[in-house]
Formats: sequence, structure tokens, C-alpha cells
Amino acid sequence: QELQLNLEQIEKGGYDHFMLKEIYEQPSVIKDTYRGRLLANQGIIKMSGLEDNLSKFTNADRIIIVACGTSWHAGLVAEYIFEDLARIPVEVEYASEFRYRNPVITEKDVVIAISQSGETADTLAAIKLAKQKGAFVFGVCNVVGSTISRETHAGSYTHAGPEIGVASTKAFTTQITVLTMIALRLANVKGTISQSDYMLQLRELESITSKVEEALQSEPKIKEIAQVFKDAANFLYLGRGYNFPVALEGALKLKEISYIHAEGYPAAEMKHGPIALIDEQMPVVVIAVNSNHYEKVVSNIEEIKARKGKIIAVVTEGDTQVKQLADYIMEVPATPESLTPLVTTIPLQLLSYHIAVMLGKNVDQPRNLAKSVTVE
Ligand code: G6P
Repeated sequence: QELQLNLEQIEKGGYDHFMLKEIYEQPSVIKDTYRGRLLANQGIIKMSGLEDNLSKFTNADRIIIVACGTSWHAGLVAEYIFEDLARIPVEVEYASEFRYRNPVITEKDVVIAISQSGETADTLAAIKLAKQKGAFVFGVCNVVGSTISRETHAGSYTHAGPEIGVASTKAFTTQITVLTMIALRLANVKGTISQSDYMLQLRELESITSKVEEALQSEPKIKEIAQVFKDAANFLYLGRGYNFPVALEGALKLKEISYIHAEGYPAAEMKHGPIALIDEQMPVVVIAVNSNHYEKVVSNIEEIKARKGKIIAVVTEGDTQVKQLADYIMEVPATPESLTPLVTTIPLQLLSYHIAVMLGKNVDQPRNLAKSVTVE
């Protein structure tokens, strides 16, 4: 028994929980994911699963992404990246809905299945269906040799290493890293991105690890915020564009491990419903980093403030405008908009982690949840 406990301590590498260890591993596993594949100075992205099937992607009418849970959120981020940079239409589907919907799929479609475990039953069933209908199916998995990695025609692994915490953290950011590399490679081949922008994006992706590192340094501040809001009954998470899926993921993390009800919403949709919930009891986490939507998000924040909601904002370092409006801020380093999810996710992971710890919840093994869902 004692030996078992000690072993677990060692496995946690000095962290209290696997989840925290995995949050802190992100700079290094993101690097592992692009190592040998991204040569920024030479302008090269080289992933064999993609290179061998490049024409399938460039000739595709559209890309359909199938996934569940956090992997589905990575798919939503990818939708923005693929459409924005590579100009390929993307649809993102819950595998469980897709498989039973008699979906329209043809040989001209490319299906990307995203799965950390590579064993999720619904995702696997969606892949089988897509294959039957003649689509080319590409996997983005973490677990090497998993069922999904074997059932897909080709794929690219994330190199996140084993993820033990049930709430997914490093799998999410490494999935986004792989999907970003795919989008950039396709954008370059298709000529939908200028050479200078392409080179800039590659260099920025290569330096994202130090920015993730920097985002992690806000932990003491985030802990204080967690202390203030840990007893809230509800949370609202808002974001726009690339950071709308990050809002969904932030809310999911909080639900999963602290059991606090949280809803993620596109900031502009707030006025069509969630705004009715806002009063002085309601913490609203708003991702308000520098982006094309900045001014619009600022006015959303003003609307929340007018209704006395408590604003916790994720902002770009050096921000002054939102800082004046928000009750609390969590700063992240500046990065091109398409890469912001990789940094804005970090404070939200830490916020849910600390709230759950303060509430005495079982962070690594939340009730009713499984790491890998192999039944439908
Ligand atoms: C479960 C896990 C989630 C995960 C989802 C999809 O619900 O608890 O963390 O995001 O399954 O799993 P996958 O392995 O396919 O990414």
C-alpha cells in the first residue's frame, strides 16, 4: 500500500495532482509535438501522414471533423484555423450525432477524427461510417497504436505523453498544435497565405512554448481569483472567434472537476439568452485578448458590468481598456490571433483546477466521468 502511494507520488513528479503536472507539461509537450516537423527558419512543415496524402486534402470539397468532449473543442478551434488560413470549408461534428444522422459524405470529403485516447466508441463508429461512404479518414490521436490510429487511413500523433487526469489539458493544446501545422502546410501548398505571413506564423508557433510558460506564471494570481469565486453556483464563459471554443473548453473544465454549473457561449450570443442570468452573483469569464473582435468584446463586457456581473477577463499583457472594466484579469502574452487558443486556455485550466482543489473535489478522477469512453 505504502509502496503504491510512493509510486504515485513519483509519477506525479512533485505535483499534488496529475492534472496540475499535465498543465505544467504543456510547454514541453507542445515542443515534442512540433519537434522534427516544424522547421521555422527554413519554412518547412513536414508530417509524413499529411505529405503522403497531400492531394486528398488539397482536392477535398470540405473537411469534416468528428470528435467528442475536449477533442471536439480542439476541432472547433481547427475550423477557424483551416477556414481562415487554408480556405477549406470545415464542419465540426459530435461523433455521436454524426454517426446516427445518415450524414451526406462522399469520396471528395476528408474526415479528421480527433481523439486523445484513440478508443472513444462514438468517434470510432463515425470513422467506420465515413470509410464506408468512401471518405479519406485522417486521425489525430495521442495514444500510439490505439484503435482509432489503426482504423484511420493516415494520421499524425500528438506527442503529449500519457494523460492521466480525466479532465483533458495537454492533449487539447497538442491537438491544436498538430491541427495548426496541418492548416499552415495546406495554406502554403494552396497559396492561400502569403509567404511572409506563413513564415511569421511558423516562427510564432515555434515560440509559443515560451508564451505558454509565461501564461503559467500567473498561477498565484489565478489562485486568488479561485478563492474569491469558488462558492459561486454558476459561471458563464464568453469568447469570440478563435476563442469561442476556448470559452466552451473553459466551462467544460470547471464543470468536470468542480461540479459547478458553467456555460460557454459566443460572446455576441449573450444577448439572446444568457444575459438574463447576469446579476451580482454571476461570475463571467471573458476572453478579451487583442484580436479583430477586441472592441466588440469590450462592449460585451460593458453590458455585463451594467448588470453588475463579476468580470474575470483574460487579456493580452499590457492591456489597459479591459483592465479598467474587469474585476479581475488574467494576463497572457501577445501572439497572432490564430495561436491565441494555445495561451488563453492556460489560465482557464488553472482556474478550474484551483477551484476544484479548494472545494475538496477529486481533481484527477471526478465522479461519473471516465478518461476513455469505450461504450456509447
Ligand atoms: C471523455 C474524457 C474527456 C475527453 C472525451 C473524448 O469524456 O473524459 O476528457 O475529451 O472523452 O475522448 P478522446 O479520447 O476521444 O479524446
